[in-house]
Order: sequence, then structure tokens, then C-alpha cells
Amino acid sequence: MYTQGQAACNRSFFPCQDTPAVKAPYTANVKVPSGFTPVMSASESSNGQIANLSGDKDTYYFSLKQPVQVYLVALAVGDLKSADIGPRSKVWAEPSVLESAKNEFNGVVEEFITTGERLFGPYVWDKYDILIMPPSFPFGGMENPCLTFVTPCLLVGDKSLTDVVIHEISHSWFGNLVTNANWSEFWLNEGFTMFAQRRIMEEIFGKAYTSLETQCGLALLRQHMDDTGEDHPLNRLCVVIEAGVDPDDTYNETPYEKGFSFVCYLQHLVGDVQKFDDFLKNYVNKFKFKSVVAEDMLEYFHEYFPHLKEQDVANKPGFEFDQWLHKSGWPPYVPDLSPGKQLTDPAEQLAAAIAGETNAEVDRKIENWKTYQIFHFLDKLLERDSLSQSVLKNLVDTYPTIPQSHNAEILLRWSQIVIKNDFQEQFSTVKKFLKSQGKQKYTLPIYKALVKGSEAAHQLAKSVFEETKETLHINVRNYVTKILVSIK
Ligand code: BES
Ligand code: ZN
Repeated sequence: MYTQGQAACNRSFFPCQDTPAVKAPYTANVKVPSGFTPVMSASESSNGQIANLSGDKDTYYFSLKQPVQVYLVALAVGDLKSADIGPRSKVWAEPSVLESAKNEFNGVVEEFITTGERLFGPYVWDKYDILIMPPSFPFGGMENPCLTFVTPCLLVGDKSLTDVVIHEISHSWFGNLVTNANWSEFWLNEGFTMFAQRRIMEEIFGKAYTSLETQCGLALLRQHMDDTGEDHPLNRLCVVIEAGVDPDDTYNETPYEKGFSFVCYLQHLVGDVQKFDDFLKNYVNKFKFKSVVAEDMLEYFHEYFPHLKEQDVANKPGFEFDQWLHKSGWPPYVPDLSPGKQLTDPAEQLAAAIAGETNAEVDRKIENWKTYQIFHFLDKLLERDSLSQSVLKNLVDTYPTIPQSHNAEILLRWSQIVIKNDFQEQFSTVKKFLKSQGKQKYTLPIYKALVKGSEAAHQLAKSVFEETKETLHINVRNYVTKILVSIK
């Protein structure tokens, strides 16, 4: 069993004032059936026998001394074993996946943490463990303090999806230390975290790779805005959440990528990477263990950079802070991604060639590509209005590793291409993918595409959901049910 507190589910776990505006340390006693191991988002734990609590070996004690908001209290129980992956880190998993979990994360997390510390200040959470969740876990990762929960989809075998771990580590400063005071300000958690994640990536992997990853993020924002319309009320940074609305229902790409773009814009106004890093370090230090709204952050920005306040940067026509926060639409500023050209160009050229739009000589070898180049290549194919059946057949024959991939990010994009172009001979791949995992960001877009598709696509949607609904997380199950009503 596991809990998922964010956004507002922990009120059904224990009695609480379920708001991110207040913080407290916590302790817990957890009694489990013999043979099970509980883990929590806590820095200290002991077993009854060792602590001599009640002499009961099945009672465990947990304590988190740092004050946290309610949604960060988390518990999971299972047949869990752990393995060391760094000086302050272990990975926890069921025995059948422990080995692959260890291989995926061994020796990499410590560098992510120390880079974060150098950029944003001390890591205050004592340890950083990772828990491998069951396939139905609805998120890629959840930043529970001391113990990030991650989808087993990250266990690809080649460390290609570890950016999710960098993301969750980045929440150690943005989100967990400095927290959005209410869910209308969720972008303060996720936008700053995306920025921190990409700063860490830039330090470790360089600008080219990070630009490529950012390009893939902006493609998600593009898709989301195309789907909903740029003017949709959720496509602003500060969203209006009426009483009675579940904040989870407002979840989308805007707080992530438009939030990231706004933080990049602030960095651009400062004009100096180092000075902006220093600002962020001071921002974290000033507001650590507190909850903030956008005004707090911007007021501090003005205080830290008085010359920018004097220049009245908040009111530059077209880039008004007020517009950034309260107006729907595509971000008025996005960072320069040209450092990624050496990686994005080959992917874009190959997409054009495969789609039959050019006769130019292109290098068709993808074996040495970075995995993110394949995501970008597939994003570009997905952007095309339509691809013929013969183009898709050719693609499967030339690049069999794409439909046969074990990388969920590849399978998501491939599934979307297959459905959009009604390429029925690959529907079995879509089906297999939907049955293999239940992450919300994979599951919902695929069902949405199926609903827009052919009669065969509708049949596929109905039959797979019938088979998988019992195993999906309740939120995801409810969202899919809503998506499917139009083809009832
Ligand atoms: N905190 C989020 C997950 C979340 C958001 C849970 C809202 C409940 C409500 C987590 O940090 C996250 O953003 N995960 C992403 C990772 C990605 C952006 C690298 C995910 O799950 O896809
Ligand atoms: Zn996040």
C-alpha cells in the first residue's frame, strides 16, 4: 500500500489542516503484518525491537524533525528491501526489481545533490532515498522528503530517465523548503523546480543536452495549449480555484513549462547566470520552512535587484509581471535553445526525411543518438498533420527498436503517432503499453487520442480500460472514465 498526499489527499490519511500554508515536524508509529516493511518520508526510523518501543518487531517508529506541509507526509508498506546507491542514499524496492533499481541509480544521485547544494544552498533533509513504486503509481516521481517515490518506468537499464530524479531532488529546495502557500500558486513549486533541475543538468551534462531536454518540455506545453486552447483559464500561472474544486483537477503543463519560462525571464532580466543563482540561494535561505505566494517572491526579487526595480522591469510592455501571472497563453519569453542545435538538427532532419518532405541527404543512423533525440524526433513526427501508412511501415522496418522500446517516454510518443494516424497494425503496442503502467501523464493523453480516433481506436480504449481499471490509481481511473463518456 502507499499514500500520495499531494495535492489534497492526506486529509483521508490522518486528521489534519490540509493546506500547504502551514508546516510541522511529525512522528509516527506504524504497525505492519509480519514480513512487511514500512517506509516513510522521514529522516529517522527504527524498528520496535531496536528502539525497544514495545518490544514488538512489527512496530516501526519514524520521525521527521524538519517542519513540512501536510502533503509531504508519506507512507508505503510492502515486501521492501534496500541497497546503497550513495553516501546518504539507498534505493528501496521489491526484491524482484532491487537489482535493476540499484543499477539504474547507483553512484549518480550524490552528484545531483552536491550540485544542487552548490547552486541553491545546503541539503537540509539528512538523507535522500528512492522508493520504486508499483506500475500503477500515477506520477513519474513524488518529492516526499528523504524518500522520493518513483515510477518503475524509470528502470530502463541505461539511466536515460534520471532527469526525473534530478527534478525530485530539486524540490528539496523549491517546494519542500520554500513552498507554494496555496494550490493557485503551484507554479512556484514546479516552475522553480524545473529551472533548478535544468540548472543542475546544465552543470553536469552541459548546455546542449539541457537545451534538448527543454525543447521536449516545451513541446509538451505546445501540445497542452493546442489541446485546450491558449486562452484556457488554466493556462495562466496563478490559477483561480473555486471552492469545492479539487486542485488535482487543475494539473497540467503550464505551471511546469510556463513557470520555467518565467523564471528564465527573470534570469534574463538579471542578465548574469551567477548573480541569478545567488539570488535563488538567498531566496531559499530567506523563505526556508515557509510558504509563499508570487508577490513574496517578486517583492524579494525587487529588493535583491534594486536597479531592476528602478527600471520598472515589472511593467515592460508585453512582459508585465502581472500578465505573466494572470493572463492565459503562450509564455511571452522562452529561453534561447540554440545551444541544443547540434542535437536537435539531426532529429529534425531525419523527421523531415522520413515524412518524405525532403530529398536532401540525411544521416539515418540513430544508434548513437541520445535517448532525448529520439523523443524529439518522435515529437516532430507527431507534429505532422498526418503520416501515410507506408511511411509508418517503413519507420517500423527501419527502426524496430522504437516500437520495441522499453523506454516509456518513447512508447508514449510512438503510441500517440500510431493513434493519430490510425496505424492499426501497431495498436497491440499501444495496448501493451497501457497495460504495463498507469502513470497519469502517459495514460490520459493516450485515452484522449483514442477517443478522437477511429472506431477501432474506440474499441481498443474500451477493452483495455475494462481490463486495467481495477489496477489504476483511483484519480487516474476517474479521469479516464470521464474521457471515455463521449464514446459510451
Ligand atoms: N510533485 C510532482 C508530482 C505531483 C504533482 C503530484 C501534483 C501530485 C500533484 C512531481 O515533482 C512531478 O512534477 N513529477 C513529474 C516529474 C517530471 C516533471 C520530471 C512527473 O511525475 O511527471
Ligand atoms: Zn515536480
